[in-house]
Amino acid sequence: MALKYQRPRGTHDFVPEAPKWVDDSARRQYLEDQFRGLCRLYGYGEVRTPIFENTQLITRSVGEETDIVSKEMYTFETKGGDSLTLRPESTAPVLRAYLENSLHTRGGVVKLYYCAQHFRYERPQEGRYRQHEQLGVEALGTDDPALDAEVIQLALAFFRNIGISSLTLKLNSVGSVESRGTYLIALKAYVEPHLAEFSAEGQSRFEKNPLRLLDTKNARELEILAGAPHLSAYLTEEERAHHAAVMGYLTDAGVTYENDPFLVRGFDYYTKTAFEIQSPDLGAQNALGGGGRYNQLVETIGGPPTPGIGFGLGVERALIALQALGVEMPALPTPTAYIITLGDAAKPVGIKLLANLRGSGISAETEYGGRSMKAQMRAADKSKARFAVILGDDEVAAGMVQLKSLHDGWQHKVPVSEVAEWLSGESRRLPDPSPLPSSSAG
Ligand code: HAM
Repeated sequence: MALKYQRPRGTHDFVPEAPKWVDDSARRQYLEDQFRGLCRLYGYGEVRTPIFENTQLITRSVGEETDIVSKEMYTFETKGGDSLTLRPESTAPVLRAYLENSLHTRGGVVKLYYCAQHFRYERPQEGRYRQHEQLGVEALGTDDPALDAEVIQLALAFFRNIGISSLTLKLNSVGSVESRGTYLIALKAYVEPHLAEFSAEGQSRFEKNPLRLLDTKNARELEILAGAPHLSAYLTEEERAHHAAVMGYLTDAGVTYENDPFLVRGFDYYTKTAFEIQSPDLGAQNALGGGGRYNQLVETIGGPPTPGIGFGLGVERALIALQALGVEMPALPTPTAYIITLGDAAKPVGIKLLANLRGSGISAETEYGGRSMKAQMRAADKSKARFAVILGDDEVAAGMVQLKSLHDGWQHKVPVSEVAEWLSGESRRLPDPSPLPSSSAG
């Protein structure tokens, strides 16, 4: 059927029991729950920011010459004439919120986490969408390399907990704006003789923001850049010591990593530590998550000098990897009771009982539409409920229901007024433990 309206390209609907896990709402919720639990364990509190922000906040933070700002933003003018942008990432918005809510005056390290949707006008493909969700953290207020290691370990623990264990952690230090300055002179000197072979975009980056030359996906440019000088040779003593300390903490924690001298990630705000977590179970879009330090970013957006570090993990990519690996997630709880009514007198009694059970905290379902007993029993089986609560004219007249286990043949007549008590965990009269005995109990 050709639908009149379809969702915008590169976006998803999340529905229960979707065949592709990336579209499945319960699996998505499970990952969010796991992440929330882990963040609480590590002492992070949730931050939620608006889905759109002042455009300048994003362009200043992420950087004018980055792919995100130059090609991928959803920017619009409001009726009031302001330029707003759907957030393409959350680091800048979270730092704005940190300042605007005076979290920087609280002292100590402020640790925040988020589960947030982001918007980038990218060419859609498997693992790359125009709307994607990140599970992320930002920790502000210290330059201590032990925090870098904590943040990296939190990201790795998340993947381990959900069942993705074959991962590669890529690590680099991108120095500071100042140390990068010296490196960029060397990088430009290296690239200049080859500049004619670079794309128009590469040539523009050479002029405006040479570090971004390293973000290229152009095969010829990558070939040339393979021989380029490494940023690590231009770090200050202090930056080198920081990087060594991060590696030391990771090694102590038993974390293996690969140093990648060309890992700069697509943002201008990183300083010192930059990292990416990659999976061999994903195709071309193999980055499950990434992050780094941004010790100069709070100042860039008008706050006091405040070091910080964080990461973002891609929910869609995690779901794709989990499905590829065939890692099952815990099944959702099924209803305790399924109410089946037969006849006009039984229906209102059943509907009342349904509300009564739910009011007592017992999950219960029923069939709407007045179908046959057989159809209702089929629906009850499909729901995987533990018990059918059957109400016919005779039962209603006697003020009773037939309680029937859907796991075996056990059944018993119970007064309507006592069904909740029978089904609640406190009841000693129900056959227990599972599997239920097939003989009648009383
Ligand atoms: P990012 O590397 O751009 O970093 O995004 C983080 C993760 O989000 C990626 O590794 C990927 O798994 C997922 N992701 C990004 N773009 C898409 C897309 N178009 N479709 C599907 N998944 C995607 C950041 O955004 C930084 N703000 C992370 C950070 C936080 N750095 C410091 N703090």
